[in-house]
Amino acid sequence: MTEFKPLVFSGVQPTGNLHLGNYLGAIRKFVALQENNDCIYCVVDMHALTAQLVHEDMATQIRSITAAFLAAGIDAKKHIVFNQSQVPQHAELAWIFNCVARIGWMNRMTQFKDKAGKDREQASLGLYAYPSLMAADILVYRATHVPVGDDQKQHLELARDIAMKFNMDFHDKIVPTGLGVDIKVGEEPVHAYFPMVEPLIDGPAPRVMSLKDGTKKMSKSDPSDLSRINLMDDQDAISKKIRKAKTDPDALPSETEGLKGRPEADNLVGIFAALADTSKADVLAEFGGQQFSVFKPALVDLAVEVLAPINAEMRRLMEDPGHIDAVLRDGGERARVRAEKTMNEVRDIIGFVR
Ligand code: TYM
Repeated sequence: MTEFKPLVFSGVQPTGNLHLGNYLGAIRKFVALQENNDCIYCVVDMHALTAQLVHEDMATQIRSITAAFLAAGIDAKKHIVFNQSQVPQHAELAWIFNCVARIGWMNRMTQFKDKAGKDREQASLGLYAYPSLMAADILVYRATHVPVGDDQKQHLELARDIAMKFNMDFHDKIVPTGLGVDIKVGEEPVHAYFPMVEPLIDGPAPRVMSLKDGTKKMSKSDPSDLSRINLMDDQDAISKKIRKAKTDPDALPSETEGLKGRPEADNLVGIFAALADTSKADVLAEFGGQQFSVFKPALVDLAVEVLAPINAEMRRLMEDPGHIDAVLRDGGERARVRAEKTMNEVRDIIGFVR
């Protein structure tokens, strides 16, 4: 049985400040994965239009995410870093996927319901079709592995559904092209043009929660800046936010079982573990029985140790927008070549004349 060549793809939207959730849920994993994989990391600027059309600072936001990628340690020469709008094949494949995906599938997307709010009629068509573009981002490279935070899980399941339906619907066209690969989906053998993407979500902080409420996701859109640590926060801000983070009155437990029903404690221990590249169990082996008055200063030291160099490098990079743009252009050129190869094959499979 042949296999798809492993390829990692992920994207981050250029909307608002990057925060610790984006870093631990996504960017830190991007850096770890580049050691042993071919990786493509994308600033998904076309996605940024779905919730808000006009952005005064779009270019700065795109450069800032790119700076964060580079400052965190992504090697843009060995891998590919680019912004989505430089590769129009994403939008082209998304159109085809709009015709593959069913309206009923889109109606189940919880993020659309959250983002559209009460007045769904006023949400953009782009926001509704967003998961289809996200599937195209990944599958236009036939990528196999996607590191993301837990909030993107449903979108990745949809990407698998879209890939599966395309493979089935076009089965008889894919076979004669010789472009398909025999894979197993569960026990079922499937002849596939598009792979079944594997989400990479695990780790101690797949969903970093608000510092003010351990039951809410840390998010760019939370009105309270104290709820999140931004990658551009300086040492004082990081220290203040962690010191003010909500906790409960009890000491830390010695085992992870003891974090159940204690969302704030669970969140801070998860953040510590992710920043230290260890597990919650190891953190509790060290801090079990200690009060937050001991744990929080240790967390401040660790957060500053990890984030301060990234912060400093991001600021340095942002002073040279020309360099960032050159990185994106170079990545865009290389991404376009790969994406166009897929699109030519897709055009042939569909039967478009070219
Ligand atoms: P976005 O831009 O909202 O977030 C970027 C990444 O950060 C993760 N994340 C979190 N992880 C843990 N805890 C949190 N509180 C937290 N908040 C955000 C997200 O899961 C994501 O991995 N739809 C995507 C962008 C996208 C994409 C793609 C991702 C577009 N195309 C293709 C992967 C593959 C999004 O809006 O992420």
